[in-house]
Amino acid sequence: MKGIVLAAGKGTRLYPVTKPICKPLLPLYDKPMIYYPLSILMMAGIRDILVIVPPDDEEPFKKLLGDGSQFGISITYKEQKVQRGIADAFLVGEEFIADDSVCLALGDNLFYGDGMEECLAKACANTNGATVFGYYVEDPRPFGVVEFDENLKAVSIEEKPENPKSNYIVPGLYFYDNNVVEIAKNVKPSARGELEITSVNNDYLAQGKLNVVTFGEEYEWRDTGTADSLVDAAVLVRDIQKRTGKQLACLEEIAFEKGWITAQQLKSLGEQMKATTYGQYLLKLAEK
Ligand code: G1P
Repeated sequence: MKGIVLAAGKGTRLYPVTKPICKPLLPLYDKPMIYYPLSILMMAGIRDILVIVPPDDEEPFKKLLGDGSQFGISITYKEQKVQRGIADAFLVGEEFIADDSVCLALGDNLFYGDGMEECLAKACANTNGATVFGYYVEDPRPFGVVEFDENLKAVSIEEKPENPKSNYIVPGLYFYDNNVVEIAKNVKPSARGELEITSVNNDYLAQGKLNVVTFGEEYEWRDTGTADSLVDAAVLVRDIQKRTGKQLACLEEIAFEKGWITAQQLKSLGEQMKATTYGQYLLKLAEK
């Protein structure tokens, strides 16, 4: 399975902060926002990852993540020339996906939960159709909202509905079989002029091939698109890290645990950042 991080949003809801710097490079507490979706792909065992960036913005991403080899993965980059919506990721990424299945993670979404790795493994194992998730929020109106029937089977998904049919939103993490590329090619722009990921999901739903897995209360999800949600997410990361003593989205740790890098490599990565809590954390892991 291939992985895509869509990091091409202008981040206009965070202006002026995002005028000179792309949103997924902003700090989310103690690490760049893009670490969080990247960590989810890595936790799912995905090692071949495309990062879709805004036009002329490849350099800062490369400076941060390079070719991914320090994390035992391969990262390539491609520009999204025109912002055409989330489903466009499959058109920009068509060559990269080739004949594989693919997981798409949005560059500004944060996920956390103890059972996350198991949940991701199940989604990866579904090779026929698509898997998306449902997460309960108080105000679902700014998101894709899933409607369930009395048997808790998904019956519709609506993008940013004025009158949502449930409180369950579809967060920015999507697993698809290879048909997604053809499906995305047939998506028509919505009223806001975008190729909506919700249209892709509704196509799978109509074919009876959309698996919607609801996250229980033990999971946390945040979209970090506004100043308030960014602060909220940062506080959440700080609190979880304090409570558990573990770093969230520590790419080096995931790579080490998966056996993709050695203790020696981990140590040398820690040395480069030893003035920080993050670097010291890596050094401790390498000593264990
Ligand atoms: C996008 C999707 C929406 C999804 C959300 C998750 O919204 O269109 O379906 O629920 O991401 O963050 P947007 O960020 O375009 O407002």
